[in-house]
Amino acid sequence: RKILLLNGPNLNLLGKREPGVYGNETLKHLEENITSLGDAHQIEVSCFQSNHEGELLDRLHLANEDGTKGIIFNPGAFTHYSYAIRDAIAGIQVPVIEVHISNVHSREEFRHTSVIAPVAHGQIVGLGFKGYELAFYALMDLAKGRG
Ligand code: DQA
Repeated sequence: RKILLLNGPNLNLLGKREPGVYGNETLKHLEENITSLGDAHQIEVSCFQSNHEGELLDRLHLANEDGTKGIIFNPGAFTHYSYAIRDAIAGIQVPVIEVHISNVHSREEFRHTSVIAPVAHGQIVGLGFKGYELAFYALMDLAKGRG
């Protein structure tokens, strides 16, 4: 079984970027953490981050072909306006859990809207890096038919 950890724009800067909002942990730490969770549960974790909308679209399309059973996805600011990413998620069969590190609802008005949420299997916001772990467990149950 295989899960994709997908991170969108600016998340390569985790640890350096607004640490008061996003914490001190790096993307590398996050990817290592979810990969080792996968190891503990015999689940292969592929990690991909891009600052480019088209590359995220291509990776979503690929996930539909390569046996990926679930996607943990933080689309960054694309969350709030990318209809192309929304359409890609609607167009694939693989369930996507949308994750946001920060509590987007306590921040600027433009962050309160997600164009992704209606096509996501679920959404986790405001729980920091823990949110990615919770998404991992949710997808694991889903892949076992217990979600
Ligand atoms: C974010 C929230 C978005 O509003 C922001 O543009 C990000 C990160 C989060 O993880 O809290 O880049 O997705």
